Formats: sequence, C-alpha cells, structure tokens
Amino acid sequence: MGSALIVDDDPDFCRMMARLVAHHGFDAATAQSLGSARRQIAARPPDVVLLDLELPDGNGMSLLDDPAVRGRSEVILMTGLARLETSIQALRYGAADYLLKPVDASRLGCILARVTRPDLLQAKVAALRDQLARTGAFGALVGRSGRMQLVYELIGRVAQSSIPVLVSGESGTGKELAARTIHGLSRRQPAPFVAVSCGGIGPDALESELFGSENSRAGDAEHAGLLERARGGTLFLDEICDMSAAMQARLLHVLETGSYTPLFSATRRVVDVRLISASNRDLQQAVAAGLFRQDLFYRLNVFPLQLPPLRERMEDLPLLVTHLLREIGRAEGGFKQLAPAALQRLARCHWSGNVRELRNALHQSYVMTPGDEIKHPWLPSDARPAAAVRSHPAQPVAGRTLAQVEKEAVLATLEQHGNHKERTAAALGISIKTLYNRLKEYGAQEPGR
Ligand SMILES: Nc1ncnc2c1ncn2[C@@H]1O[C@H](COP(=O)(O)OP(=O)(O)OP(=O)(O)O)[C@@H](O)[C@H]1O
Ligand SMILES: [Mg+2]
Repeated sequence: MGSALIVDDDPDFCRMMARLVAHHGFDAATAQSLGSARRQIAARPPDVVLLDLELPDGNGMSLLDDPAVRGRSEVILMTGLARLETSIQALRYGAADYLLKPVDASRLGCILARVTRPDLLQAKVAALRDQLARTGAFGALVGRSGRMQLVYELIGRVAQSSIPVLVSGESGTGKELAARTIHGLSRRQPAPFVAVSCGGIGPDALESELFGSENSRAGDAEHAGLLERARGGTLFLDEICDMSAAMQARLLHVLETGSYTPLFSATRRVVDVRLISASNRDLQQAVAAGLFRQDLFYRLNVFPLQLPPLRERMEDLPLLVTHLLREIGRAEGGFKQLAPAALQRLARCHWSGNVRELRNALHQSYVMTPGDEIKHPWLPSDARPAAAVRSHPAQPVAGRTLAQVEKEAVLATLEQHGNHKERTAAALGISIKTLYNRLKEYGAQEPGR
C-alpha cells in the first residue's frame, strides 16, 4: 500500500482528501502546517505529498527543496484557479503535477495511479547519461555537442513533471524525437504517446479529432478522440502555429477548465494528458503578428525547449552520419560507409532541412552507390560545391544557341554531381542513354567514378 501526506491548513479539506486518498488504496496522513509536515516526513517519508502552497507558517514551495523530500516523495500541488499560474510555475521546481480545487476525484485517481518515486525516474535519466558518455546518443537523440547536452539536461529535468512543454526548432531538428524522449522518461511512459498535426486541418475536423464524439442523432458511429486515446500519457500537438483561431480558443478553454465535452455528448470529461507542442516557426513572432493567442502561448510555453539547427552543431555530423547509415543499412539490408572526403563535402552544406535532410541525402547516396563506400554523396539542393559555381559563371542565356546553353547545363550539372551520371541524368530530367549520347557529342571525357 502506498502512503500519502496531505498538507493543507483547512482541517475539513484534509479529512475529505484523506478519505478520497484512502479510497484509492493509500495510507493517508494529514498536516496543517509546514512544521508538522516536515516532522512527519522526517519520521516516515510518504510516497506522495499532496501540498497546498499557502500554509500558516510559510510557503509550501520550500518543501520542494527539502532533501528529505527530493528523490523520495512525489509532490502534487493543490491549488485554486486564482493561484494556478503560480502553481504551474512551481512545477518547474520539481513538483510532479497539480490538482485544481475543488479536487476532481477521477483526476486524483489518475495521479495516484502514476505515483513513482522520483529517484526511479532519475535513474532512467542517469542511464541515458551513461549511454551518452559511451556512445554519443541520449536515447534516440544522437549528438554530444554542447548545444545537444543542454537539450538533454532540460529533457531530463522536465520529464519528471507533467508541465506543458513547447519544443521549437527548424524543420527536421528532432522536435518529435525530443517529445518522445520526454514521454519515455516520464511517469506517463506506460500510457500512450499520441501525436497530431494541427496544420492544414480545419477547426471542426481538429476538434472532432481531439475531442471525439458519441453517437450523433444522424447515426454517426462513436469515436474516441485523441485526448481519450492519450489518457494518462502524452499528447503531442505538432505544427501548433498553424492552429486556426477558433481551435486556439477551444484548446485554451480545455486547458483552463481541465475538461472537455466530446461532440454530441452531454458529459464533460476530465483531461489527463501531458501536453507537448511543437512549432518550426517562431511562435512568439506569431503572437506579435496577432496570429497566435498570447494567453494560449503562455499556457503551452511553460517550459520552452529549443532544438539547435544542424549547421550549429556540425561537430555532431560524423556521429549522425554513422548512426543514420547504420539505420539505413538495417532497412536496406547491408552496410555502407562514407568516404572521409565525402564527409567533408557534407560538412560544407547548409542543411536547411537539418537531420531529416541529412538522412534523406544519405539514403539517396546509399541507394545510388554500387559499392560499400560512398564517395560521391547526394547533396541537398541548396548545396553548391564552390568549384562548380566558379567554373561556370552565370552568362546571359539570351543570344546564344540552344545547343550551347544545353551543353553548359549538362556539363555544369555533371560537375555538380561529382561526375555521377545517374544523378546528373535525374537532375536534368533526361534518360541516362540521352546523357551518354550528349557526352559523346561533346567529346567529353568519360569521367571515372
Ligand atoms: N538528434 C537526432 N539524432 C538522430 N536522429 C535525429 C535527430 N534529430 C532528428 N533526427 C531524425 O531526423 C528526422 C526528423 O526528426 P523529427 O521528425 O523529430 O523532426 P521535427 O523537428 O519534428 O521536424 P518537422 O519540423 O519537419 O516536423 C527523423 O528521422 C529523426 O529520427
Ligand atoms: Mg515533426
């Protein structure tokens, strides 16, 4: 049986909570002051402390720093709506979750069902730190640059609480991977991680997707919304920036009340998900431009997590290449390596599509390379090897024969693709046979690969 300590200055509230907690199979004790709470914790540390922040002899926050509590007891804040903002901020300092007063019995049940000793969660983070030291990967996230180490540090900290996280970063920087890592390290890990993209979907469709519906009079079948499917787990709201104004208002209402009503239903349901949202555009700028509600932004951005673009952590490139080629090799059934000179070429690219673009480039290279060493990697479209640009200065096209322009286009593209004929033909939109014919006409040397 788990043990709980309820800390609140109101004795009637304490008694009522003790009954509720006992109903969930916990052994319940109560304290009406900070002093009494500290004495009881020292005598017998409880598994969970249900804590009101305003106590007659001080602020309950100080318990979060108490070495007797840290690591040993999970702390759940109990708060009125008026003090909700302060409590959400307090989650940053180590509380696991909060309960709105008046306390909803089913939400209390959800929280108690997840009670986990903080040191067990910390052990999971420690295991990933070990893995990082050995292999350069923190779970599925690869890289040991300073920028990524900071990301891991923040992930490890935020995973311990139920606090909403806003992950930002350019496209392909690993926002979803980071969100999954947070979920995997959290108390909610046994429950589902559910992802939904908010872009390109109207408010009604998204509402139905999120809230679900009960049988309508028109006879539509009942369907469980994503909030229901993610119950107890994590809901990942991707491309949050693209959420319509109408849906922003509905989501804000859900977050404020902690509940929602499925379509065609008369019963409100309690929300029990951890929200992680992601945006590859600057959400603060969207707020300034009047495209995103500021009040919703504050609710979602309780804990910001910024992922660095690949070009700002190029020291991670060799690790990433090895990791991605291994993954691609597993899928393709084989193993290929990148030649050192090829790695240098990759390091000079801008990678506006970040790790996803790198993965795609490596996959293309893998498939196009006959041997097991990739010498001429497929480069992203914004990568122009300096030599190719220098040797083909832009000349006005007007006034020259079509044959001349064609010849220059063919030779420049050939050089850009490191004399790789399949890629050159693909880039020019012609068949490989046509390319060979042209090269024969130009008397171009057969470039060896
Ligand atoms: N640090 C990393 N280590 C290993 N793989 C990564 C890393 N970051 C991203 N990836 C890989 O890159 C691809 C894109 O990652 P992810 O989908 O998480 O990016 P994203 O930021 O959500 O992109 P978008 O904004 O386009 O949705 C995935 O295949 C993912 O596995
Ligand atoms: Mg994504």
